[in-house]
Amino acid sequence: MTAEYQLPDIDWDDDQEDFIPATNENKPEYDTIDVSSKAFWAQLLEDQDKSFATLRRERPVSWQRPVEDAVIPDPDDPGFWALTRLADIQKVSRDNETFISGQGVLFDMLPKIFLEMSQSFLAMDDPQHAKLRRLVSAAFTPKQVRRMEEKVQGIAKRCVDDIIDKGKIDFPVEFSSRVPLMTLGEVWGIPEHLRAETGAAASDAVAWCDPEALGDRDPQEVQTEACVRLHDIAEQMISDRRREPREDLMQALMDAEVDGEKLDEAQIGAFFVLMSVAGTDTTQHTTSFAVMGMTQFPEQKAWLMEDFDNRIDQSIEEFIRYGTPVMTFRRTAVKETELAGQQIMPGDKVVFLYASGNRDDTLIERPWDLDLTRDPNPHCGFGGGGVHYCLGNQLAKMMLRHALKELLFRIPEFKAGNPRFMGTNFMRAVTHLDFEFTPERKEK
Ligand code: HEM
Repeated sequence: MTAEYQLPDIDWDDDQEDFIPATNENKPEYDTIDVSSKAFWAQLLEDQDKSFATLRRERPVSWQRPVEDAVIPDPDDPGFWALTRLADIQKVSRDNETFISGQGVLFDMLPKIFLEMSQSFLAMDDPQHAKLRRLVSAAFTPKQVRRMEEKVQGIAKRCVDDIIDKGKIDFPVEFSSRVPLMTLGEVWGIPEHLRAETGAAASDAVAWCDPEALGDRDPQEVQTEACVRLHDIAEQMISDRRREPREDLMQALMDAEVDGEKLDEAQIGAFFVLMSVAGTDTTQHTTSFAVMGMTQFPEQKAWLMEDFDNRIDQSIEEFIRYGTPVMTFRRTAVKETELAGQQIMPGDKVVFLYASGNRDDTLIERPWDLDLTRDPNPHCGFGGGGVHYCLGNQLAKMMLRHALKELLFRIPEFKAGNPRFMGTNFMRAVTHLDFEFTPERKEK
């Protein structure tokens, strides 16, 4: 580990002078359906959606009290607007003149320096956002993507090899977490001896939303340390490549150049943190929802298997809608505007409830059914559109395509049941899931 790379000190009590203050002035009473409580998010989605359905129908943009389990409780936080209808989520996502990301995209108001270090351009606005997104996109050349695909294919095969004799596994632990983590290691070219540490740091970076992973540790400390560790690993990889260039994503990011500009080390480090987190858990949980969905709707599984190669892309869109692994993101208003009859003021936080948008039956028929034939499928699982739409959606789909192909054709008879969920407001995460199947016959 390089010793010289130091992150600036983070002042967690920073009063964030350039943040626009939100106020409770002229706001309605907090809604009686309280989506800020821990108890709300501890429910199953089926139960949450009874409340979402009422909100979608009666109060699609509702004023909510500050979230209960904020990493940094803020006594001046007046609360936020909760958006439950798909159309409003799409409208606000696409209006980045009125609603910005630079003041954070999670419920919590995190210090700006921390946002830059850990969330990269996800928590930035144009022109800085566009510049970084363009530079990062330039690293995903067709040659780089082809190389990634070959690696992902091999990883999916190895992960199925490792479970094929078992007959019963804990699916997230033994399968669905491994494909994206191994992909992260291979695609970035993370040295073998640092891969376990990278995986642990990536989990710690979101441990604030996982009581089981957090244990009795302080969420701020855990988050900061994880971020520093990931920046250190990125720094070490950069200096390795300066000595000896390689052919991997890290090298491609170091070389990427648009209009004479390149990414600096801190920017690559921040993108490494974002990708370690954004690219792993999300894909892992979608894989779990896919096997849960196909267990509950076996006719859908049969339909997919009849013509896998031609049907998998549209099926993946439905697995993402059905699972909605990312349940919430936020914007901050910078102009006065109106949304579903509510007056939104500069500084007001506006939270997308993607989990509700993806069950909005005014735009999605029979939203509770897994319907792999759904086309069009206007879901908001990768965001509601606009400039922040998930940059990793193609890589996520590539991982899901190969993981599911290996699984379905080598383990066609399976049953997934008894899931355990994380129970927080950010990720719809399956932490444990029984997965039973007929083991491969030895004589084969
Ligand atoms: C099933 C898997 C995934 C889901 C459900 C998902 C979901 C999301 C969502 C909801 C957003 C925010 C969109 C918005 O604010 O409008 C987002 C942004 C982003 N995602 Fe993903 N994601 C997934 C996989 C990935 C992967 C594999 C990567 C890494 C390559 C990735 C990288 C990113 C990045 C860099 C952004 C920020 C884009 C920007 O601000 O311009 N995601 N994702």
